[in-house]
Amino acid sequence: MTPPDELGAAGAGPGQNLIKAEFGTLIWLEPLEDGGRAIMKMYRRRPFYDPLRRWFLPYRAEREFKVLSHLVRHGVACSEPLSWSHGRRDPHGLYELLVTREVAGATALDKLLKPPGAVTDLSPLLRLTRRMHDSGVSHGGMAPRNILVSFPAAGTPAFHIIDMSYSQIFPRGIAGTRMATFDLLDLIYRIGSHYPAERCAAWLADYGLDESAVQKLLRRLERYRPRGHWAHLRRAETDLHAAIARLRAPRSPRDGGSRSAGPPAASDT
Ligand SMILES: Nc1ncnc2c1ncn2[C@@H]1O[C@H](COP(=O)(O)OP(=O)(O)OP(=O)(O)O)[C@@H](O)[C@H]1O
Ligand SMILES: [Mg+2]
Repeated sequence: MTPPDELGAAGAGPGQNLIKAEFGTLIWLEPLEDGGRAIMKMYRRRPFYDPLRRWFLPYRAEREFKVLSHLVRHGVACSEPLSWSHGRRDPHGLYELLVTREVAGATALDKLLKPPGAVTDLSPLLRLTRRMHDSGVSHGGMAPRNILVSFPAAGTPAFHIIDMSYSQIFPRGIAGTRMATFDLLDLIYRIGSHYPAERCAAWLADYGLDESAVQKLLRRLERYRPRGHWAHLRRAETDLHAAIARLRAPRSPRDGGSRSAGPPAASDT
């Protein structure tokens, strides 16, 4: 793996494949010693803002690392976290680095939506989302590009959740809360145009919503917008709820516990 001294050539070194190069984020693939490959996700930090920010908020890479570790502990299929670090290096300046294991042979779900037939059943994805919510995690960016699909030689497609940049861990399961509803709205909004409404309704039932909750969520979708100011407000609300929930919760090591299973009620969003 790339030692920090060589980060100047991030993404462009031997054996490395660049996935994304934007001002704020650089993502590349590189080989691991065990034959697998690592996804290296580097955030560049803004110098004036971030030294202040680090006193109030944890590092973004650290937060993603902790949420992914929490999901692994709860058996939720995701991008397996390997390490995180931060530092200062030319030409990037201040950076944070998150290293996860590549899901071999996987494709982001958004690339599979257009050609009909590539992925026909999203029921396992909705059940995976329920497991994530039962573990107390809200994703905050449930878009098809943040879900990977792999195709095992035998069996049905497998789903993996990635990109926890806007996620929060709550001390209890969140199914039935506004935060879980935000994730479901984000997901169904983006996949809804690719599948018949009845199938989306059936998948929401597989998640665990009862009939009235499904209908309520589908009605809410008609005026839902996943981007813009409303998305910022929803994230701010989620962050606030998570902070309050953490203050209220009795301190329990590692495991946040989980609400009992069963169909969650619809939340008023
Ligand atoms: N564990 C993984 N295995 C395979 N590919 C991955 C993995 N993690 C990320 N990728 C690839 O990198 C892309 C971007 O990853 P990620 O969503 O974490 O970054 P991002 O900066 O949020 O990108 P975007 O803004 O496009 O969502 C994914 O769409 C996927 O193609
Ligand atoms: Mg993403």
